[in-house]
Amino acid sequence: MEPYALDWLNLLLRWSHLIVGIAWIGSSFYFVWLDNTLLPPQRKADADEGVGGELWAVHGGGFYHVQKFRIAPAELPEPLHWFKWEAYTTWMTGFALLAVQYYANARTYMIDPAVADLAPWQAVAISVALIVAGWVFYDQLCKRAGLERERLVAAVTIAFIALCAWGLSHLFAGRAVFLQIGAMLGTMMAANVLFVIIPSQRQLVVAKQRGVAPEAIHGLRGKQRSVHNNYFTLPVLFVMISPHYPMTWGHPRAWLVLLAILLLAAYVRHFFNLRHKGRTVWAIPVSAALATLALAFVIAPQRPDASAAPSFERAQAIVAQRCASCHAQSPAQPGFDVAPKGVMLDTPDRIVAAAAQIREQTVTTRAMPIGNLTNMTDAERRELGAWIAAGAKR
Ligand code: HEC
Repeated sequence: MEPYALDWLNLLLRWSHLIVGIAWIGSSFYFVWLDNTLLPPQRKADADEGVGGELWAVHGGGFYHVQKFRIAPAELPEPLHWFKWEAYTTWMTGFALLAVQYYANARTYMIDPAVADLAPWQAVAISVALIVAGWVFYDQLCKRAGLERERLVAAVTIAFIALCAWGLSHLFAGRAVFLQIGAMLGTMMAANVLFVIIPSQRQLVVAKQRGVAPEAIHGLRGKQRSVHNNYFTLPVLFVMISPHYPMTWGHPRAWLVLLAILLLAAYVRHFFNLRHKGRTVWAIPVSAALATLALAFVIAPQRPDASAAPSFERAQAIVAQRCASCHAQSPAQPGFDVAPKGVMLDTPDRIVAAAAQIREQTVTTRAMPIGNLTNMTDAERRELGAWIAAGAKR
């Protein structure tokens, strides 16, 4: 497809993915908060009718009174609102975006020949297979462990994600390792809704329609997966914005950096869950902030050596050879219609003005040249770093 048309498709998919993702995670946050904030009903009549908890709220110029039934109301109400399309459309737009951004440009975004010289179809096949395998593994784990052994489920899930991230770091470019893990977690979340949460709710409704008391086990099964989804939310959101932050996935041990950030994000989610229940444990955000600071310190890149700085002409020649095929007014690189991110490195002024960005992308994080399509050498990276460290002078 035309790069220009692909760019529009990418924009529309990304925009939609963000919108439906907000609707899904937003309603998920709301219901978790609601569940944790409910108080016992004030009126005895409500309690007698089976109301287990209720809540008053004011929003958008009106008062709301929400009641949650211990199992189900006496009569099945009409209409009954379900929350599922938020999840399904988030997955569908997310997968389509993965295809347009990563699968269609596997050579650029997924493959790093210095890591593994895969063919594009191999990279795509590994990605799809792991997305499916991740769900099957996690789902079987939950079913076999049952509802009582949540610590075991958490430990095995974390070990599984760590193993996948480590394995992927031997197959994909750092950026694609992160996104692949995010896609796997996002798929587990959406599949939890499709295959467990919605069916267990349907069981409750069917029991009501038959006039028999619904079995509590159905509700508990759905609840278990809801709780898991809740802990996945912040980690997955990090992964979705991670492409902007090459200092995370550009690190030589990117898989460990990823694991650390995912765990910190779930830990912060735990703080909010406790807080909604009335327990504010400040030690969690404080220790999470300290750990983030420590991580930033540990993965900080080394400063290049200014003493070996080459001339401007040399720096310009490197940029012209390794960068300007994409970063120019009209890129020569097939598949690029306009300079990526509007960054142009085709005149001396532009190169000097972008010196800090050039260092960030080529020396600090090695994110550029993307997929190292122009075969930049380590020596050239050191030369550019030294030229910038010496003041990026012409
Ligand atoms: C094959 C094409 C290609 C080559 C060659 C290339 N880049 Fe890029 N560059 C891209 C793409 C694509 C993006 C946008 C990445 C994204 O979507 O996150 C980008 C983004 C950037 C950005 C902006 C990053 C940001 O997130 O704001 C900078 C700066 C940059 N490149 C510098 C360079 C430098 C310096 C070189 C040469 C050493 C280089 N690029 C070589 C394709 C290329």
